[in-house]
Amino acid sequence: MKTVLVTGGAGFIGSNYIKLMLKKFNDYQIVNVDNLTYAGNLENLAEIQNYNRYTFIKADIRNRKLINKLFDKYNFKYVVNFAAESHVDRSIEEPEVFLTTNVIGTQVLLEAAKNHWKIYPDDKYSTEYNDGVKFLQVSTDEVYGALGKEGMFVETMPLKPNSPYSASKASADLIVRAYNRTFGLPINITRCSNNYGPYQFPEKLIPLMINNCLNDENLPVYGDGMQIRDWLHVKDHCEAINAVLHKGQDGEIYNIGGNNEKANIEIVRLIIKTLGKSENLIKYVKDRPGHDRRYAIDNTKISKELSWKPSYTFAEGVEETIQWYLDNSKWIENVVSGDYKNFYLRMYK
Ligand code: NAD
Ligand code: TYD
Repeated sequence: MKTVLVTGGAGFIGSNYIKLMLKKFNDYQIVNVDNLTYAGNLENLAEIQNYNRYTFIKADIRNRKLINKLFDKYNFKYVVNFAAESHVDRSIEEPEVFLTTNVIGTQVLLEAAKNHWKIYPDDKYSTEYNDGVKFLQVSTDEVYGALGKEGMFVETMPLKPNSPYSASKASADLIVRAYNRTFGLPINITRCSNNYGPYQFPEKLIPLMINNCLNDENLPVYGDGMQIRDWLHVKDHCEAINAVLHKGQDGEIYNIGGNNEKANIEIVRLIIKTLGKSENLIKYVKDRPGHDRRYAIDNTKISKELSWKPSYTFAEGVEETIQWYLDNSKWIENVVSGDYKNFYLRMYK
């Protein structure tokens, strides 16, 4: 049995990842550490909560003592670090928690991994680690900053983050890199483009627009709506992380993207059309400060070296996602009303 520490597993991508891994591998045991911020929702994991290969622990990745205790207790082979504050708009309102969770929290995990996985922990010159261990940092394309009309992000580009969110993720990437270069800790960093799919919190573009459409509420489009993102289905992201975890070369960074650039307004119009609503719902609002104009991922490295490629087309993926939100109206109702917070109390207390 291989024990994997997944942090932030009650969030959007982490919960999709845990379910994928448990289905895909019979010899994986997953310990999900999440402190259940507003974005953590255990309802996302309801279908696997009683699996014997799955354990949930409500804990903060910034809690050094507790994280060390978990490393003492479980013989983790891998760490996959999803835990983060993930919303750009929130980082503009309240940057500090982005630094403590995204940067310090990552360093707490790195230090615990180093101390527990190193064969000679007291020898600062030794770079020998237990066989096959790995720390995988789930990062974002936003660390590269914004593109103009041309070009794509490649792994060797300098980091030029523009928001407190992306700056905190870039800082985390650098400290992960430093643990690899200085201490020899086996690591990979993945930098993915915008995800969409089931269980995404309705503060992000696609679920927010679906939810507002369903409730005939205004659809707030920032600025001129011509900002471009490169959209990828969450399941394709999770498969890519899986490929990097098993096949990624030590110390390497892998971009993950869908070759699927869309302007925000195109997506909003597609959602309106699919749900049979009126474009009169669109409301252009003041632009986000520091708003990145365009992201686009060059995924040549992961495709060539690890044979990963996306399986969803955007048309299929969005249709399936809209259908998921229609079929899971209770999930979104609980999120919007805040009732999802009671799930923890009902199930774990
Ligand atoms: P999310 O906001 O849905 O989930 C984050 C999870 O982390 C939540 O369950 C939350 O409770 C948990 N968490 C937050 N602070 C914590 C702390 N201090 N200790 C323990 N748990 C904590 O985010 P997501 O969209 O699932 O993103 C997951 C990761 O993927 C993030 O690191 C994000 O930067 C990265 N990423 C996201 C996207 C995207 O489009 N959503 C794209 C690329 C990369
Ligand atoms: P978001 O889902 O917040 O992801 P990110 O900022 O990490 O790319 O936003 C995606 C794009 O949609 C981004 O350009 C901002 C824009 N947007 C709106 O126009 N209106 C909204 O209400 C939201 C949430 C986002």
